[in-house]
Amino acid sequence: PALKEVEKYLELFHLPQEKLKEVSARLKRDLIRGLGKHSHHRAAVKMLPTFVRATPDGTEKGDYLALDLGGTNFRVLHVRVVEEQQRVLKMDSKICAIPQEIMLGTGEQLFDHIAACLSEFLDSQDLKGQTLPLGFTFSFPCEQKEIDKSILIRWTKGFNCSGVEGRDVVQLLKEAIRRRGDYDIGSVAMVNDTVGTMMSCGYRDQSCEIGMIIGTGTNACYMEEMKNVKRVEGEAGRMCINTEWGGFGDDGSLRDIQTEFDVVVDQTSINPVQSNNSIIWFQLLKYKDLLLPPFSNEAALNNTRFLLQEGTGLENGQNILTELGVKWDPVDVRVVRLVCDTISSRSARLCAAALATIANRIRVNRGLDHLKTTVGVDGTVYRKHPNFSEELQDTVRLLVPKCSISFLVSEDGSGKGAAMVTAVAQRLALQSR
Ligand code: BG6
Repeated sequence: PALKEVEKYLELFHLPQEKLKEVSARLKRDLIRGLGKHSHHRAAVKMLPTFVRATPDGTEKGDYLALDLGGTNFRVLHVRVVEEQQRVLKMDSKICAIPQEIMLGTGEQLFDHIAACLSEFLDSQDLKGQTLPLGFTFSFPCEQKEIDKSILIRWTKGFNCSGVEGRDVVQLLKEAIRRRGDYDIGSVAMVNDTVGTMMSCGYRDQSCEIGMIIGTGTNACYMEEMKNVKRVEGEAGRMCINTEWGGFGDDGSLRDIQTEFDVVVDQTSINPVQSNNSIIWFQLLKYKDLLLPPFSNEAALNNTRFLLQEGTGLENGQNILTELGVKWDPVDVRVVRLVCDTISSRSARLCAAALATIANRIRVNRGLDHLKTTVGVDGTVYRKHPNFSEELQDTVRLLVPKCSISFLVSEDGSGKGAAMVTAVAQRLALQSR
């Protein structure tokens, strides 16, 4: 009986292709609203201008620092872009932990911590005497005024530091470095992780014009025609737009496909976002009411392990239940497997619908019958889940047969891309002199 009950709930998660097409059409409408001069104020999908106007052309070079904040790990990097026969990018990096109290503390504490991590890293690399340009991957929605002026709209994912929303993040970083007084940095370029991912893949494949993240959160960026970016002056060329597609549905536009589990996840999250793992957790809690002994709720929130464990599905299920300290029988294991499969499949199909919308927009923008393009991708769910990427790719192909999309997983994260943004900005500045 328990299995039947669960299957009944899982039906709610099934999205047939016709529904995905509807979802894609709604996103298309939202993208246009987000780009509009006035309509963007009430847009759920923010479509933020990034001031990134070109992807790498392979002539970039120099030494850069980069920070990468907002995914599973906070990283500090030193990137050397050298132009040789075969382009080489050298890189050193260090992961720096951010304790939970800092993620939920004051902005000053957060930026002091970041500046301290950078200081330690510069020491270890013997770079303190130099003033290097810095690319800052900051993966939260920001209203960017210029490449080096970026106002945090709101925190998402696990962060909630006071006194940062509404402020310029570059200024907060520079102030923290000034407070220390032991080193200095050069010009700063602010980059969303989607943009960093697109740019780091763009170094290998120059037709990479979309960046997509499926990890702690989900988001994408793409190269839009400037004439459509009504919020920024100028008509010529293109600009990368950070869609912030995680906000899709925040205005209720996806109510018809929202389940009671999605509602609970949003209600109990500090920053309501679509999060697979939490939904799985609530499914299991619901199931627990039917079958399992009580276990703690917090333990598994924001814990992607459930989705990603390797091995056969049934072994995974056994491991999960054992880890939870639950006495399981074969039916429980099948339930865990079914719940995980269903929810990650829904997520892959929704991401596919969103990506299809963007690829098709690029195709129509350029008046093409057929578009060939590359998406740079990153994020633990995309990288590690046993069949998420396959399901996403298959679904996109069905949804937009007029686009051939190649998928390129970013090699070493978006920090490298942030350095590339800084490098491209320098190249463009030199060219325009
Ligand atoms: C990393 C990038 O590889 O992936 C980050 O360097 C990005 O910028 C992250 O935010 C996204 O994945 P996850 O799973 O860590 O959230």
